[in-house]
Amino acid sequence: MTDKPLRAGIIGLGIGAAHAKGYGGDYGAELVALCDLDDTRLRLLASEYGVKPEHCYHDYRQMLAEAKLDIVSVCLPNAMHAEATIAALEAGAHVLCEKPMATSVAQAQQMMAAAERSQRQLMIAYNHRYRADVMWIRRMIKDGQLGQIYHAHAAWRRETGIPGSGWFGNKQMSGGGALIDLGVHVLDMTMWLLGFPGVKTVSGDTHMVFGQRGLKTWGRRPGQPVETAFDVDDGAVGFIRLGDGSNMVLEATWAEHRQPQDDLIRVELQGTEGTVVLNIANYRRDDTLRMYKEMEGEPVTVIPAIRWEGPHGHEALIMDILSAMRAGLPMPTDGAQGLMAVHVLEAMYRSSHDGREIELNVGAE
Ligand SMILES: NC(=O)c1ccc[n+]([C@@H]2O[C@H](COP(=O)([O-])OP(=O)(O)OC[C@H]3O[C@@H](n4cnc5c(N)ncnc54)[C@H](O)[C@@H]3O)[C@@H](O)[C@H]2O)c1
Repeated sequence: MTDKPLRAGIIGLGIGAAHAKGYGGDYGAELVALCDLDDTRLRLLASEYGVKPEHCYHDYRQMLAEAKLDIVSVCLPNAMHAEATIAALEAGAHVLCEKPMATSVAQAQQMMAAAERSQRQLMIAYNHRYRADVMWIRRMIKDGQLGQIYHAHAAWRRETGIPGSGWFGNKQMSGGGALIDLGVHVLDMTMWLLGFPGVKTVSGDTHMVFGQRGLKTWGRRPGQPVETAFDVDDGAVGFIRLGDGSNMVLEATWAEHRQPQDDLIRVELQGTEGTVVLNIANYRRDDTLRMYKEMEGEPVTVIPAIRWEGPHGHEALIMDILSAMRAGLPMPTDGAQGLMAVHVLEAMYRSSHDGREIELNVGAE
């Protein structure tokens, strides 16, 4: 691989702005092209990162044909991930696709096949792995501090958190609600921490309590009429039997009656030698971790002092991807991991619909 900076482009400039930070940093890429239907978003991001007006596009196919890109971030609504990703791979670019990888297993498999055909990398934007506290848990697991993990409880729950952008609540565009939007993050984080042990069976149940009534949506005043159809889950719970004999409870809610304005990511891993609990309230960074163990037969609580130096989130993910590409190392996230999550999500929706456990038997990494 050459030392020339990789030419990067971004399609979709909502969360796409976080990708811009990664490509715009000094990590071996340059942000040369942007695409969105929204002129204001295009103009603002282009001026922040010095992208030339002739490389600002409304049509991503035109961008892919003209801008000679080495890497493209696909940050469009979920149902558009597959088509744009395949187009970018076929144009010869590596792709970093936002989560969830796709709205169906069939689409995710087509994306994998396109990556294989074009011999390009396909990666999924799991930025929460790159929190310093999550990295700390990974190190503790590798160091054997938890022993054999036999149970995981992964949850992302919000009091008022139904996204305001209409497409999130529209099944055709999103593929699902809180489960596919928030659940996928904590599912991936947990599977990654566990080392992707494979999935045997999945049970799920979803509910739609608030969204259809126009309640608990960001930016909506009480009594304001609901102008967009809402036909997805605003909450879900699942039980997953994993390939190594352990299991996971997965919960995701966009809305529920609880402490006002609460947004809580909670991952608990119970092992033979210790338990770790990650509690991220309202995206805070301080005091998010506890590890419980025994020393000399006495229970001890470990409260680690986490160092939050350097980039994290999307910026750290992109930095890591670029450095792996330069070094010819395996990508830190890949299509197979994204596909695994889509398998689980799809099975949870099917289980909820059919009212039964689904046998998946999808393999380890
Ligand atoms: N990793 C994370 O933490 C994270 C956070 C938020 C969103 N996301 C994911 O990112 C994706 C986008 O979410 P968002 O919150 O940015 O949504 P958004 O609605 O804010 O942004 C989507 C953008 O895509 C543009 N767009 C739509 N159709 C287009 C087309 N045909 N061509 C070009 N542009 C088009 C829209 O104009 C809009 O600006 C989703 O898959 C979502 O799940 C991930």
